Amino acid sequence: MIAIVGAGKVGSAAAFNILKDRISDVVLIDLNAELAKGEALDMMQAAPAIEFDGKIQGTGDFREMEGAELVIVIAGQGRKPGMTRIDLMNINAKIIRSIVKEVVRYAPDCKLMIVTNPVDVMTFIACKESGLPPNRVFGMGNILDTIRFRSYIAQELGVSREDTHGLVIGEHGDSMVPLVEYACVSGIPITTLLSKKQIEKIVKQTRTSGADVIKLKGATTYAPGAVIAMMADTVLKGRNRVMSVSTCPQGEFSCPDVSIGVPVVLGKNGVERIIELELSAESKLLFQESIYKVKKAIATLEF
Ligand code: 2OP
Repeated sequence: MIAIVGAGKVGSAAAFNILKDRISDVVLIDLNAELAKGEALDMMQAAPAIEFDGKIQGTGDFREMEGAELVIVIAGQGRKPGMTRIDLMNINAKIIRSIVKEVVRYAPDCKLMIVTNPVDVMTFIACKESGLPPNRVFGMGNILDTIRFRSYIAQELGVSREDTHGLVIGEHGDSMVPLVEYACVSGIPITTLLSKKQIEKIVKQTRTSGADVIKLKGATTYAPGAVIAMMADTVLKGRNRVMSVSTCPQGEFSCPDVSIGVPVVLGKNGVERIIELELSAESKLLFQESIYKVKKAIATLEF
């Protein structure tokens, strides 16, 4: 069973995708129990149309997460137009701390996925304060940036998104690092298919992609909702997919005391292992700057 804490737009979109892809039963938890119950009832009524025979429950009671294999925490304030994710830090840190206590109490054997922003700082808090093994605590960050990076590359080239691949590392924020040197279309490097100007445009679009949606509709929903389901699928089915998630490296990339987006193998045990990469001189510098930015934010956390 998957427990999702936060029944807002992203939480309910993620829950519905998990049901639609028949990944797992879902318990949707929110302090606004009526909202959680209403979302669950709406999805239960849709179940025959998506051929889902499992359970979907909405509740305000954290005890219902008991025994969850995966707990996904989405609760917290979302960005308003013009805000950065870091602006949400101290408000959401308090929410994360209180939820992590409930997770440890009712689902101590779970894998814990953080979505609440700023996700790198929130994942760091969750890792440190839960006491769970670091591999079982990770954040949904750069994998979302990666699918946006892929979308913009595919759009620029007029090719299938399915054949377009890439990686984004670093902060899930303005200092993220789309790795141009590893981006390709069916193995063909994009540097041989696109001009420098086109690539710069795509990198910029990727960086502002979340804010661009928020400016137009007030919040992102479908992209994070789809990516959360994709991560839940690889964890619950042990698919060992390779993707960039926020995690606390244990020696890799020589960046202790931070949670940051790095490529990992994501499977049954959470972060099965971190994949260290050769980075171009430019990417290495940008990655270090991104780590520094997240560490600086962590240092200013109000406890
Ligand atoms: C986003 O970029 C919610 O941070 C998430 O859409």
